[in-house]
Amino acid sequence: MPYAHITGWGMSVPAHVLTNDDLSKMVDTNDAWIREMTGIRERRIAAENETTSTLGADAALKALTVANVSPDDVDLIICSTSTPEYLFPATACLIQDQLGASKAGAFDLLAACSGFIYGLNMAAQAIKSGSAKTVLVIGTETLSRFVDWKDRSTCILFGDGAGAFVVQASEQPGGIFGGVMHSDGSGGDSLLLPAGGSKHPASDLTVHTGMHFIRMNGKEVFRFATRVMAKATLDAAEASGWKPEEIDLVVPHQANLRIIDAAARGLKMPLDKMIINLDRYGNTSTASIPLATVEAVEGGRIKPGDKLVFVGFGAGLTWGALAVQWTGPLPTDRKVNLKQNYLWARSRSIYRRIGRIIEGILWGRNA
Ligand code: UT7
Repeated sequence: MPYAHITGWGMSVPAHVLTNDDLSKMVDTNDAWIREMTGIRERRIAAENETTSTLGADAALKALTVANVSPDDVDLIICSTSTPEYLFPATACLIQDQLGASKAGAFDLLAACSGFIYGLNMAAQAIKSGSAKTVLVIGTETLSRFVDWKDRSTCILFGDGAGAFVVQASEQPGGIFGGVMHSDGSGGDSLLLPAGGSKHPASDLTVHTGMHFIRMNGKEVFRFATRVMAKATLDAAEASGWKPEEIDLVVPHQANLRIIDAAARGLKMPLDKMIINLDRYGNTSTASIPLATVEAVEGGRIKPGDKLVFVGFGAGLTWGALAVQWTGPLPTDRKVNLKQNYLWARSRSIYRRIGRIIEGILWGRNA
């Protein structure tokens, strides 16, 4: 059975920074409260021309570059997001088109802030079963589009961004080991986006009553998170045959410094074993774990051979953890030219669209 290795990584965040002081001009809040209660200093906000798919595709392209893998070699794209561009088509398909990943299947996965862990686990299972050799896992969000900027209890928390990993098959031992995935739908109303789905389709009422914005019972989510983080981390390590003391670093979902601190205490680990970057990006939901990982790898904190546990929790309620021995790019003599590939992907997409229009005219259908 092949092993599933993480061989490429990339991240993409909008350039626009929204600081706590900026927020204090929009709602009744202040920098001291936000820092003390959450640990967040600033977050990134997508520009008008940035979307969940453009951020995701940018992160994915960087991950493919690190792995030295051509988009044509990707068998499967799993896009984890709670802020898809549409209910359908899947954002994964929009990214597939932007990358020109011509042979890839593509689907979205919704497990909120635990989604990247679920997606990585699914990628590893696809590789271990032999059904895929190369999988792109992307976590991407534009939460700023769903935040009520008048609600100080939520708007201070969230930010936009994307992270992506390339997962590849190899006979070398290592990579993604054991994991756990859990859910408890009885807590679904603790954190939700009430309207826009089939239960409450968009209407004047849903718009006027703010049902298209994120609603959260912060205290309930906080209590749930502090209950599950340490146990899920230990369960993932145990499922991989690792003793707790073998864990080199934990990459937790970046929601609140107090939650991460509680998890470290539950694990009897010093806080410096936890990777933390929420001060600069806020809570980017499913993108937070890859964003924290990419920065830690690029900063030299995560090295090949390190034993890591990714752990997250979120709406659903969902939670999960995954044990990973860090790898890095697989050796190859090939050098892919992703810039050229990207231009080719754009032209191929335009060509296909024109082809459909011509086909429509020829067959007398409305193009
Ligand atoms: O990916 C998962 C996403 N969600 C989470 O991780 C959320 C988890 N929950 C939390 O992080 C915390 O619940 C928050 C940081 C959101 C809030 O902390 P809290 O300890 O639950 O505070 P609270 O909502 O009970 O508010 C305490 C006080 C209240 O004032 P009073 O009633 O004591 O006078 C709030 O009105 O703080 C007030 N408050 C604020 N003050 C300044 C609430 N939000 C703000 C604010 N600025 N932004």
